[in-house]
Amino acid sequence: MLTLSNVRKSYGDLVAVDGLSLTVAEGEIFGLLGPNGAGKSTTVHMAVGLLPPDAGTVTIGDLGPPTHADVRRMLGVAPQALALYDELTGDENLRFLGQMYGLSGARLSARVDAVLALVGLTDRRRDRASTYSGGMKRRLNLAAALVHEPRLLLLDEPTVGVDPQSRNAILDQILALRAAGHTIVYTTHYMEEAARLCDRVGIVDHGKLLAVDTVEGLIRAHGGRPVLVAQTDAGERRIETDDPVRALTELSASHRVDDFHVARASLEQVFLNLTGRRLRD
Ligand SMILES: Nc1ncnc2c1ncn2[C@@H]1O[C@H](COP(=O)(O)OP(=O)(O)OP(=O)(O)O)[C@@H](O)[C@H]1O
Ligand SMILES: [Mg+2]
Repeated sequence: MLTLSNVRKSYGDLVAVDGLSLTVAEGEIFGLLGPNGAGKSTTVHMAVGLLPPDAGTVTIGDLGPPTHADVRRMLGVAPQALALYDELTGDENLRFLGQMYGLSGARLSARVDAVLALVGLTDRRRDRASTYSGGMKRRLNLAAALVHEPRLLLLDEPTVGVDPQSRNAILDQILALRAAGHTIVYTTHYMEEAARLCDRVGIVDHGKLLAVDTVEGLIRAHGGRPVLVAQTDAGERRIETDDPVRALTELSASHRVDDFHVARASLEQVFLNLTGRRLRD
């Protein structure tokens, strides 16, 4: 559905995206996980044709580059920097964008109603966007990406500043969009979101894609072994092992074990092992 081949982008001397290649399959949620400045937004902007790559190519499906008008219509983007008209109401923002994508009449009204309901803003639809809270603006920004039912949806940190309840609702709605057949690219620096949502995750740092796999696969390949953590009569024991049950059996033969758990690596650990740095510094 989306192929980036060796794309590069520099801002002056700063290399923001450094020869990045990836393929997003139809119907999957593909996560781009990386810290601030990793190049996620720059990658998204190139993927949707808002920013020309310095080198490399972007292809949408088998249709060609996203700069073609008819290819663009298949794309929806919720940019990290909000793209809303403050002086228009929520309703007017969505109607305006829908019209730009060629919707009109009853179809436009139905789509606006549907996406407002989806992001929980129906009761605020007649208010100007300037009177929305930060989280409401973020939700309207997401609705704007959805109004024309794009096949490929790129969401750049769509939950930043959104309260936990609305965040959960948004994540559920993104899963529902996948179930309805949409393909989704999702950037985040929240590893919990990537783990909950994404079929596959690409780890990005300094404009490079360091690894791509399912969350399970990334943890298996780059997370290190599970650790048995046990409270014993001789204090806490931490045993790195591929077989925690066996390690526990052996430990309990020589010690009284009062409590234990098995700590599995997270995406945080994967990032640390791949880069030598923490995802959140
Ligand atoms: N318009 C711009 N002009 C100059 N430098 C830029 C511009 N946009 C991005 N950069 C730089 O390019 C690098 C990558 O930025 P980008 O916004 O793509 O990262 P990101 O992964 O989206 O980060 P964040 O998680 O903070 O959103 C950063 O070093 C950033 O400072
Ligand atoms: Mg960004």
